[in-house]
Amino acid sequence: AEDVVIEDVEFSFEGPFGSFDPLQLQRGLKVYTEVCSACHGMKYVPIRTLGDEGGPQLPEDQVRAYAEQYEVFDEEIDDYRAAKPSDHFPESMLENAPDLSLMAKKRAGFHGPYGTGINQFLKGMGGPEYIYSLMTGYHETPECAPDDFPGSYNAAFGAGGFPEECKDEEGHHTVPGSWINMAQPIYDDSVEFDDGSPADLESASKDVAAFLTWTAEPKLMARKYAGLTGVLFLTVLSVLLYLTNKRIWAPIK
Ligand code: HEM
Repeated sequence: AEDVVIEDVEFSFEGPFGSFDPLQLQRGLKVYTEVCSACHGMKYVPIRTLGDEGGPQLPEDQVRAYAEQYEVFDEEIDDYRAAKPSDHFPESMLENAPDLSLMAKKRAGFHGPYGTGINQFLKGMGGPEYIYSLMTGYHETPECAPDDFPGSYNAAFGAGGFPEECKDEEGHHTVPGSWINMAQPIYDDSVEFDDGSPADLESASKDVAAFLTWTAEPKLMARKYAGLTGVLFLTVLSVLLYLTNKRIWAPIK
């Protein structure tokens, strides 16, 4: 893989006790709705889950109102109708814009070193960090690139086009990243948050990255909770077994 720049961002859902912040997920939903959904879809995500515990936790009436802004094709009535909470988010509007439902799990931000996975062990998979870095990775086009090179330069995107002019004699890239077919989607104050949170590029990118982590891993909190319960249970069991063992062998020792 070529060089890319992925920033390690701190998220509330990291670590064994981490959890999603419903307000952050609501802000990320707003970024998704107002910016990303113009091109991208999320066909694996049922709209009703916006009301779920551990998610954005929208009240029921807001989930219904949210659904109604989308049109879906209903085979039973052979016509389009307003979406209901039981429907899924629509598919991508733009054919070459990938579905974002599972994107945070599909891409890894951290690799190596040398295939050991140590970076992922220490920092996590890096899916949300990748999305954050992609959103904030639109820097000025490097001088080496010809003016008419297609796409937008992005320091976090490794899979796009790369001009010959920006390679050295050995073919190594002289700048990180590559050229992506998605123009910079988020700028400072592209959205306005209802809770008054800052909507600069970095904050909005962090919020949408958190939201897309929730869509890709909606049971994250339940999973962590189950893991914690398991560890607690096994700890108690170990103590009891130790004491039992002591007692059984006491007359012999
Ligand atoms: C690709 C996120 C807005 C068009 C992608 C990818 C992500 C992403 C994660 C995949 C990159 C990869 O393959 O590793 C977002 C987010 C958005 C947003 C979070 C909103 C904040 C948009 C908008 C458009 C768009 C508004 C259309 C105007 C595309 C296209 C690609 C893409 C065409 C494929 C690019 C390529 O493979 O070169 N986007 N996107 N996106 N997006 Fe977006």
